[in-house]
Amino acid sequence: MAAGEIERHLMIVIGGTGDLMRRKLLPAMRRLTQEGRLRGKTIILASGRRATFDDGSYRDWAHEALEEAGLPPGAEDSGWCKECLHYESVGDQQPEDFERLKRRIEETEREHDLPGNRIFYMATPPGAFIHTVERLGEAGLSSGPGWTRVVIEKPFGDDLDSARELNERIHRHFSEQQIYRIDHYLGKETVQNLLTFRFANVLFDSVWNRDRIASVEITVAEELGVGERAGFYDSVGALRDMVQNHMTQLLTITAMEHPTQFEADAIRDEKVKVLRSLAPLDPSQAIFGQYAAGEVEGESVPGYLDEEGVAEGSQTESYVALRAYVQNWRWQGVPFVLRTGKRMPEKLTEIVINFRCPALALFQRHPEATVRANALVITLQPDEGFDLRFEVKAPRDPLRMVTQNLSFRYDEAFEELPDAYETLLVDIAEGDQTLFVRSDEVEEAWRLYTPLLVNRPLVHPYPAGTMGPPEAERILIPRGEACPI
Ligand SMILES: NC(=O)c1ccc[n+]([C@@H]2O[C@H](COP(=O)([O-])OP(=O)(O)OC[C@H]3O[C@@H](n4cnc5c(N)ncnc54)[C@H](OP(=O)(O)O)[C@@H]3O)[C@@H](O)[C@H]2O)c1
Repeated sequence: MAAGEIERHLMIVIGGTGDLMRRKLLPAMRRLTQEGRLRGKTIILASGRRATFDDGSYRDWAHEALEEAGLPPGAEDSGWCKECLHYESVGDQQPEDFERLKRRIEETEREHDLPGNRIFYMATPPGAFIHTVERLGEAGLSSGPGWTRVVIEKPFGDDLDSARELNERIHRHFSEQQIYRIDHYLGKETVQNLLTFRFANVLFDSVWNRDRIASVEITVAEELGVGERAGFYDSVGALRDMVQNHMTQLLTITAMEHPTQFEADAIRDEKVKVLRSLAPLDPSQAIFGQYAAGEVEGESVPGYLDEEGVAEGSQTESYVALRAYVQNWRWQGVPFVLRTGKRMPEKLTEIVINFRCPALALFQRHPEATVRANALVITLQPDEGFDLRFEVKAPRDPLRMVTQNLSFRYDEAFEELPDAYETLLVDIAEGDQTLFVRSDEVEEAWRLYTPLLVNRPLVHPYPAGTMGPPEAERILIPRGEACPI
């Protein structure tokens, strides 16, 4: 977000032979280099457990990854692979492996004449985070000749206790100012624009409160089932995988107060205040579901329990709908409904702001004049943009209202949106923590959801290709209903 000067640095990717590196980080780095944003600024030292790679074979692997990502490396990128990518194994992560890594870091910095600024990117499975961070600390790598930053991928723990432990053990080696916890939703252009949309447009800012807003509904619907992630997903479920992190981030950005400045800690302070203002969740207002066999886009698909890797009789939820209440002056009494599910009819992420009905006394003598409340629909994917729904009088008829749309679409106004990882990698290099999750945010979010993990609601089945179990209807916000006259 900030347009700071990027200083030359070494990015050490621990887990640099994994899927995240292959599908996300390398393509993002390649695009950023091509655009000139990180050209000449970033040298990469990838590290994995495998000792089978050396610089040469790792560069071939990276070359393939770029081809797979539809970014066939041109002559200039082959140069980039050759000059800027290195590989060092950390084997089975013993102290001597990290001593060797340290020597290799220093050598690479000398080779490229770097000033000693370092980013350690943890792209390992979550179970390896703490061990890796501790080994880095013990090897004296938590500080260096320049600045040192550490990047952690989600999940940040799997309940309040494990998140606290993770934070506490990382803090023994790295200060909070050095830590960049990634929730890639925050790197999406449309999510960042929520802040400007609210705070730079007095039109919306002035109605952003309980006097004018009746409810807020945040939906993350996925067409896909659990697929190859079944084994992992079955031990996690939708509440942990989607609600506690991405959806709660969307809620806090929608509900937060004005920050004192447009800078990292001022914004994160306001997000934490929202989390602290959330009332404990009412279990009767939380519905869990699990998809059964059904049809998506005309194709028959198996139910969750028949997916390979799912435990027999599993009660893991692939759907969650819940109502949350932010108990502060601005939002008292306004339900925030969060809804997410797999195997829904379409892929969709949106925030719907439902405004209140107008005072209708004016129309009492015109029962045919059905009025619908205004709604602002913020679409985050797949068709990024905004739709403002408002009422107009239909021509000729005496008094008949029709809902119309004021629409804005990113792809009509701007060139291609950057991938979230491109945005986040630049921010890390610039030292801007605005889009990264602070330790207190993580803990407050877990505090909210842990009771539902302990006393889990019943899991209701829903056919694949539908919007979830019928039991959820009572807590969802009805769409497009006429206001009572
Ligand atoms: N893949 C994605 O699209 C994606 C998206 C968002 C977040 N993430 C997060 O990113 C992280 C990595 O995911 P991934 O999909 O890339 O996983 P992955 O494909 O399994 O790759 C894991 C990487 O970590 C290394 N590794 C495995 N166990 C290790 C250990 N005990 N100590 C040190 N290194 C170890 C592996 O090295 P070897 O290959 O040498 O064994 C490999 O380089 C996870 O935390 C995941 O939640 C991934």
